[in-house]
Amino acid sequence: MIGWGASVTPAEKDEIVNYLSARFGVNDPAPVPATDANEPAAALVARCLTCHGLPLIEEQRLSLAGWKREIDKMVGWGATLTEAEVQLLSEYFSRRFGPAATVTQRANVLPPLHD
Ligand code: HEC
Repeated sequence: MIGWGASVTPAEKDEIVNYLSARFGVNDPAPVPATDANEPAAALVARCLTCHGLPLIEEQRLSLAGWKREIDKMVGWGATLTEAEVQLLSEYFSRRFGPAATVTQRANVLPPLHD
């Protein structure tokens, strides 16, 4: 945010970080999804939960390319994953939280367009 123009001194930054992490920190971490032997990628999800919870991930509906871009961004922000792990996780999330899920979800929420 400082890079984007927020005018905050280093001392103020420390104060803000302390305040935000105390108030909105990960004091109640989301449960780590059960590890499935058939889904080696599931074990990698724990690495996403060091900074934020699972809902932020579950609410996305992205294609494989979209997940790859999103996870690459997280790696840029500090997530520790190898290139192969990024690929594995992108495939896993695009199966679980891919664009098709949006259609299913809409079908459950909205009335059908035709009788
Ligand atoms: C080093 C900390 C960190 C790690 C590790 C991390 N993220 Fe994030 N992530 C963030 C921050 C910061 C945001 C933006 C702020 C917010 O909305 O909480 C964010 C936001 C997101 C969003 C919301 C959309 C967006 O781009 O803002 C998604 C989806 C997401 N992360 C997925 C992941 C996944 C998947 C992983 C594991 C591969 C992961 N994150 C690991 C820091 C992290």
